[in-house]
Amino acid sequence: MNNNFFLSDHPLVKRDMTILRDKNTGTEYFRSAVKRISNILAVEIAKSFNLKKADIETPLEKTTGYKIDQEVVLIPILRAGLGMVSGFIEVIPEAKVGHIGLQRDENTLIPVEYYYKTPKDISDAFVILLDPMLATGGSASEAVNYLKKKGAKQLVFSCLVAAPEGLKKLSDTHPDIKIFGAALDRQLNDKGYILPGLGDAGDRTFGTF
Ligand code: PRP
Ligand code: URA
Repeated sequence: MNNNFFLSDHPLVKRDMTILRDKNTGTEYFRSAVKRISNILAVEIAKSFNLKKADIETPLEKTTGYKIDQEVVLIPILRAGLGMVSGFIEVIPEAKVGHIGLQRDENTLIPVEYYYKTPKDISDAFVILLDPMLATGGSASEAVNYLKKKGAKQLVFSCLVAAPEGLKKLSDTHPDIKIFGAALDRQLNDKGYILPGLGDAGDRTFGTF
């Protein structure tokens, strides 16, 4: 097992992954299961946040609590990554959100860039890149390349389903990146889909069949 890969073994993640994989699950239940898994992944990732002490007053007296000591930036890879945003924001409401638009060419499987918008300075931020599917790893590796060029230093990638091929590619190209996932599947098929997988995450999230 890859040292940089955290695979959730939470019972609720296993239950919700089964809902996602089921071809009879409709868009509404698909989205809500993505959101619940994202909550749990967000909680796991947040264990690495730096905290700073903060003085506050309760209704009774002064005391000291904690605040997150750095900006947190969520960056979904369009489109399917958008489905994970609300689950992360629920747990990390202070997070900013950037967007990266990448689409795999269906024939070459090479990701083609079509949109980029992130906060201007992400050099001190804790950046969480979101995409439900780590298939060949091309999209994730390309997105990490870009964010590093923009100055990101503390960067993690979170997905729902990882294929061994994508995990290897992302870890080989970016050994410094931690990867958080809900499932590690068997392999890719000859069209670059993950097996057993859950199908096309973008289409299932947005109902674009
Ligand atoms: C899917 C998925 C990832 C990418 C994974 O997006 O959401 O971004 O494929 O594949 P890779 O690891 O082989 O690069 P897709 O290109 O289908 O676009 P969409 O989200 O707009 O449907
Ligand atoms: N993208 C998807 O949406 N599903 C896969 O199985 C692979 C890439």
